[in-house]
Amino acid sequence: MNDFIYHIPTKVYFGKGHLQHLGDELRRFGTRVLMTYGGGSIKRIGLYDKVVAEIRNAGLELFELSGIEPNPRIDSVREGVRLCKEHHIDVLLAVGGGSTIDATKFIAAGACVDFDPWDFLDITKRAPINNALPIVDILTLSATGSEMDAGGVISNPQTGDKIGRVAAPMLPKVSFLDPTNTFSVSPYQTACGAADMLSHIFEEYFTTDKDLFMLDCFMEGLMKTIIRYAPIAMREPDNYEARANLMWASSWAINGFIDGGKQQAWSCHPIEHELSAIYDITHGLGLAIITPRWMKYCLNDTTVDRYVQFGVNVFGIDASLEPMVIADKAINMLSEFLFGTLALKSTLPEVGIDRTNFAHMARKAVQGDVLHGFVPLRQTDVEKILEMCME
Ligand code: NZQ
Ligand code: ZN
Repeated sequence: MNDFIYHIPTKVYFGKGHLQHLGDELRRFGTRVLMTYGGGSIKRIGLYDKVVAEIRNAGLELFELSGIEPNPRIDSVREGVRLCKEHHIDVLLAVGGGSTIDATKFIAAGACVDFDPWDFLDITKRAPINNALPIVDILTLSATGSEMDAGGVISNPQTGDKIGRVAAPMLPKVSFLDPTNTFSVSPYQTACGAADMLSHIFEEYFTTDKDLFMLDCFMEGLMKTIIRYAPIAMREPDNYEARANLMWASSWAINGFIDGGKQQAWSCHPIEHELSAIYDITHGLGLAIITPRWMKYCLNDTTVDRYVQFGVNVFGIDASLEPMVIADKAINMLSEFLFGTLALKSTLPEVGIDRTNFAHMARKAVQGDVLHGFVPLRQTDVEKILEMCME
């Protein structure tokens, strides 16, 4: 195993009936609260009213920023920063999915500096993130793990960029994970969330590092959990056991635990972020389309063992078959899960993407150089993977 530092100081309230602690948790950081949320789902499910009641009962002062978009935009971040400065906000409360939490992270950081928050993300500037206002969140969609990691991804339609950044000060201080808040998530978003979580695990699992038995077992357990419960949650949206297992799996898929000090870069995520930057598609859907093609592209005599372990331990494929046969079967079973069971669209043309921007997106995904992932990828490799996604 590699050397690593493990530090995840987010306090988690998991399950039903914890919301009465919200006021006390917010008050630890001050009295002036900016609540951030998306396009209105939290109002439709009655969560907004409950949260406002808790804040008022606690005698805190409430300000609001609504309308944070899926694939959140820098203009929402700028507006949040403006509100924080104008109202001398002490603590941010994000109520929603990954997009709301991500935007809130950069609002929290932007409130502590005098420059434009895009400078944190702009790859030519990469302004340091040394401080952020404290963030509390109430998660309503299991997918990104933003509730328990220090990363966020922001889109800038003016520049055509969608860029991620990780910085310790942006890690949420407290996360409320109540699976009942995800009962209203549509089958489609549930499926996209499952694809996203699986991808977070694949990005760590498909590695050339050795001696990872403990982490491998943990990752295989997470994958089996998602594969077992996502279809149940799609069929029975208010199945608590399914929603709870998915919610906790989403956090652990990306909270740093399974990373284990790996040095290899992620592969499918940089490629997908270019798709959602230009075409504004759902992140998990883009990952679902890319992932099986990326797996096929990276399969060779050197990498095949990893696919065998995945196929045998996660999908129960007969270990006595030829390694390449197991690997192909594993990729096919994953495709069948994503495009059959989860009913996600399987090609780029089906989601309105043609070849026009392939070269541009591929160059940006590898940052004009080599993406040092499971298998090193250059621009031409990424273009070939995108081409495989055409049918
Ligand atoms: O905006 P509202 O009205 O809330 O509706 C949202 C949105 O339309 C809806 N929704 C959320 N909770 C709901 C609900 N609908 C009904 N009931 C509920 N309980 O779902 C839609 C999608 O929400 P969004 O927050 O965009 O989804 P997700 O959580 O998948 O977040 C995606 C964003 O996170 C980034 C992605 O790139 C994308 O921009 N990521 C963040 C990561 C991180 N912070 O570590 C890692 C990921 O790899 C990912 O890149
Ligand atoms: Zn993701």
